Amino acid sequence: MKNSFLLVLILLMIFIISCSETNSPHKTEEPFLVIPEHFPELPIPADNPITREKVELGRMLFYEKLLSNDKTIPSCSHCMKQEHAFSDNTPVSLGNKNLPESRNTMSLANVAYREKLFWDGRGKAIEAPAYRSMFLPRILGADTNEIVKRLESHPTYPLLFKKAFGTNAKPSAYLISKAIACFVRTLISGNSRYDKYLRGDSNALNISEKRGMQLFFSERTNCSKCHSGLFFTDLDFHNTGITTHYFDRGRYLITGENKDRGKFITPTLRNIEVTAPYMHDGSFPTLEKVIEHYNQGGKPFINKDTLIKPLGLTSEEIKDLIAFLKSLTDWEFIHNKKFSNPLSNN
Ligand code: HEC
Repeated sequence: MKNSFLLVLILLMIFIISCSETNSPHKTEEPFLVIPEHFPELPIPADNPITREKVELGRMLFYEKLLSNDKTIPSCSHCMKQEHAFSDNTPVSLGNKNLPESRNTMSLANVAYREKLFWDGRGKAIEAPAYRSMFLPRILGADTNEIVKRLESHPTYPLLFKKAFGTNAKPSAYLISKAIACFVRTLISGNSRYDKYLRGDSNALNISEKRGMQLFFSERTNCSKCHSGLFFTDLDFHNTGITTHYFDRGRYLITGENKDRGKFITPTLRNIEVTAPYMHDGSFPTLEKVIEHYNQGGKPFINKDTLIKPLGLTSEEIKDLIAFLKSLTDWEFIHNKKFSNPLSNN
């Protein structure tokens, strides 16, 4: 009796499994945009709505060597590397002909939420840098007409542009930048251990990380006055006294006002563990050096923020603070196959 019941149960299970397998070709595709439940709604510009086709095309173009002058630089991914949360690990990135950029590469994680782009806040729409990077001599340094010709004679791109932008669409620099911007907007990172803690898992952080978190949000360090909110930035410009001579005048280059000399936008601290070296000029190689700088109160500079002052942190407290910063790494994002290179020949 018992045995026949077991047999029926096994047969039933086999039936259920085989049914779900025959259904599998129709199962819904993996979503191309996932917003964590504790994140706000994603701002999407009305003139470039996100669609699966655009994201898929944009992902290919993000890694496409054909967009660079001599077809050797894998487009955006040359400096925006997934293993570094879509930034890289040099003080300043080297682009076309190994020419250096002027500032440290900022991470693209959650960039869709940022209303001000770049260290001096000069940019707004992601489409613009995606467009300009193709022909800027220090980045991909290519002739956009030449890029368009390459894509037009490619076996798959012409069809993919039609799928993404309509039957009359052809590859163009304008549409390339739109597709890349759509892919970049999907680079959402909100699954660090800190996020799990925020979503209610009180064991997601260990004791040292919790002590570091308290310090970070305390009046003693003031870190969270500037690195505020879910994205750890007030999107404002500050001087933090990392040097006594600011050869790069930062926000001043945009406003022309002396009060903005040496000021830079507060960068996010999400995934900070994998985006060394640090600061707009990449001058601090490690998190230890960054905290040492804050602990000493920075170097004298006329516009230095009054919040930057000696903190008197003990070596134990410094360890805790760094442990907290490392709990902001979202390893799922860094290893998410949805964002990796889809091209087999690159
Ligand atoms: C007055 C605002 C302000 C305060 C207070 C502040 N920061 Fe910053 N932080 C900034 C700005 C602005 C930068 C970029 C400075 C630059 O590049 O010249 C920065 C850079 C950093 C970086 C490097 C980020 C990167 O991507 O290169 C880290 C790490 C960091 N801060 C952590 C902290 C910690 C920890 C504290 C507290 C001890 C703190 N900050 C306090 C504004 C602030």
